[in-house]
Amino acid sequence: MCTFVAFKYKSIMSKRYTITAALPYTNGPIHIGHLAGVYVPADIYARYLRLKGNDVAFICGSDEHGVPITIKAKKEGVKPQDIVDKYHAIIKKSFEDFGITFNNYSRTSAKIHHDTASDFFKTLYNKNEFVEEVSEQLYDAEANQFLADRFVTGTCPKCGYEEAYGDQCESCGSSLNATDLINPKSAITGNVPTLKETKHWFLPLNKHQQFLKDWILEGHKKDWKPNVYGQVKSWIDDGLRPRAVTRDLDWGIPVPVEGGEGKVLYVWFDAPIGYISATKEWTAREGKNWEDYWKDENTTLVHFIGKDNIVFHCIIFPAMLKAEGSYILPENVPANEFLNLEGKKLSTSKNWAVWLPEYLQDFPNQQDVLRYVLTANAPETKDNDFTWKDFQARNNNELVAIFGNFINRVVVLTNKYYDGIIPESSDFTLVDQKTLATIKAYPAVISSSIERYRFREASQELMNLARLGNKYLADEEPWKTIKTDEARTKTVMFVALQIASALAVLSEPFLPFTSDKLKGILNADKTSWEDVTNKNILIHSGHQIGKGELLFSKIEDKIIQLQLDKLEASKKANEVANKVLEPQKDEISFDDFTKLDIRVGTILEAEKMPKTKKLLVLKVDTGIDTRTIVSGIAEGFKPEEVIGKKVTVLVNLAPRKLRGVESQGMILMTEDEVGNLVFVNPDEDTVTNGLKIS
Ligand code: MF3
Ligand code: ZN
Repeated sequence: MCTFVAFKYKSIMSKRYTITAALPYTNGPIHIGHLAGVYVPADIYARYLRLKGNDVAFICGSDEHGVPITIKAKKEGVKPQDIVDKYHAIIKKSFEDFGITFNNYSRTSAKIHHDTASDFFKTLYNKNEFVEEVSEQLYDAEANQFLADRFVTGTCPKCGYEEAYGDQCESCGSSLNATDLINPKSAITGNVPTLKETKHWFLPLNKHQQFLKDWILEGHKKDWKPNVYGQVKSWIDDGLRPRAVTRDLDWGIPVPVEGGEGKVLYVWFDAPIGYISATKEWTAREGKNWEDYWKDENTTLVHFIGKDNIVFHCIIFPAMLKAEGSYILPENVPANEFLNLEGKKLSTSKNWAVWLPEYLQDFPNQQDVLRYVLTANAPETKDNDFTWKDFQARNNNELVAIFGNFINRVVVLTNKYYDGIIPESSDFTLVDQKTLATIKAYPAVISSSIERYRFREASQELMNLARLGNKYLADEEPWKTIKTDEARTKTVMFVALQIASALAVLSEPFLPFTSDKLKGILNADKTSWEDVTNKNILIHSGHQIGKGELLFSKIEDKIIQLQLDKLEASKKANEVANKVLEPQKDEISFDDFTKLDIRVGTILEAEKMPKTKKLLVLKVDTGIDTRTIVSGIAEGFKPEEVIGKKVTVLVNLAPRKLRGVESQGMILMTEDEVGNLVFVNPDEDTVTNGLKIS
């Protein structure tokens, strides 16, 4: 039987697009994780759409409100405005340096944004779309401050992660209310919060539950990425609850209605409206109409974000837009997973990152190398690792050895044989004809991947076209035929030049700087994406090309070693910083201590808890018995890595249920200098299960 899988590919027709990229928090520069997760894929998409003749608004800006910025300002003893001014400038420059082609990069402290967000709030208020409620909220009496969002940490009620924030658990992705946290602790003073009454406005997400269900769960089952769809489904299945959209803080957009004095909009209420304000700022500048980009059913809205932003872009913001009533909703939210660095989670505070400004200092004019590596290895379907060795290998073995080498050979030989003038072709052999036909097929192949948000795949197809060029030259050997067959050599060089021209066009979304250089070398006329398919000849006989210029250069081991040394230095600095330990806890009595029953045990079995990122279900031999312990270590260890490990277990901790599984004890853990989990384990062989630790 023959199964024919129809290749469903409907090319994007010229139309209007609003493409947004998550507004970065302005509490630090941006690093490779941001670039890989959000900005490079968004830029590839926007550039591609423009190349195909669409009307594109590619929108971003700085997210300047919210608790992280207040915390950073406090730490540095400056005003929040100083912090956002500093990092807004740095971030904006990084985006320009890396060729991210936003039509507008705005900021949420701009007046136009304050006005837009304020008006949006008032509209919902006047439409009775909020629930106003006085409730008890966490309060830090010493700091004289209500504790919302990142001002409070505690244990996540969903997954047991102990460092969850007041609005979100970064471990399982759940969106939380601060009062949901178990054992909450003030991030300002470390105090246990008290409760204090305060009034807030809530967006009743429960009211929008059915709509969200129909729209996403029914409407986008097929076309949204499984990681995005799965997260949304689990929230909706859990049941949505009203969510406060105002805060008792002094940094943010004032609540513009009666009773709102001293309160500001929740940062996640105002930030996504930033996409709208930034569009308005741009259309005003360009003499366009912003509503075309936000209120016209024929406009396609796509949000590029990282996975920690899914709930806000798939549930809360759409509910806001729906409640307002006149806006379009996103067609897709192609969120990426996270990028790690050399096996460890990227961290701003631990300086475990490759910062864009530093990268450019160390690798001047090599933006495309980083863009390419981050695309080829993008965390599209799962978390992925950036390693400097891989960076070097992708550069040396792909960009230099395949793409660069092909172009270099074509340009050097054309100059050497024909003084840079494209030769006349004579009869095409079968191989030539096949090669020319293959060039024409490439735009559709790459388009299909891009339009399905598979940017890694798309970048590899581009590389395949360069491979085709290399193979063609290697097979046809113009450097040999030049001695024997002038006409054949001319034809081969003519065909190779067509491949080079196609590469100049098709590489633009991925390698914009290289594409520009290559177009310069080829002295190329404007060629569109479609021309590569529709035109028989992209570059004509008699056309003069320029002299060669190397597109990429080999990166030596010692350069890579410098980067690894830098990371090693970060590690060391963290070790030193970590010596500033948490203050000792309150004194306890000897009796208190003897209540703890800590034993040596061995992990016998380990399994991932289904549908969680963090939890392993362990069977542990405690010497006394074999029991089940649910432990939040799945991000640090694979199940098979922990089987057989000797551990220390607090055995008389009251059992508690996590995701329906009763956990009977706790495995004691610590963290190394960069935050990786480490078992506290006795490393003497003579220490056997059940022995007491006292
Ligand atoms: N600042 C947020 C973050 O870095 C993203 C904001 S996206 C927006 O996680 F929608 F709010 F703009
Ligand atoms: Zn959680």
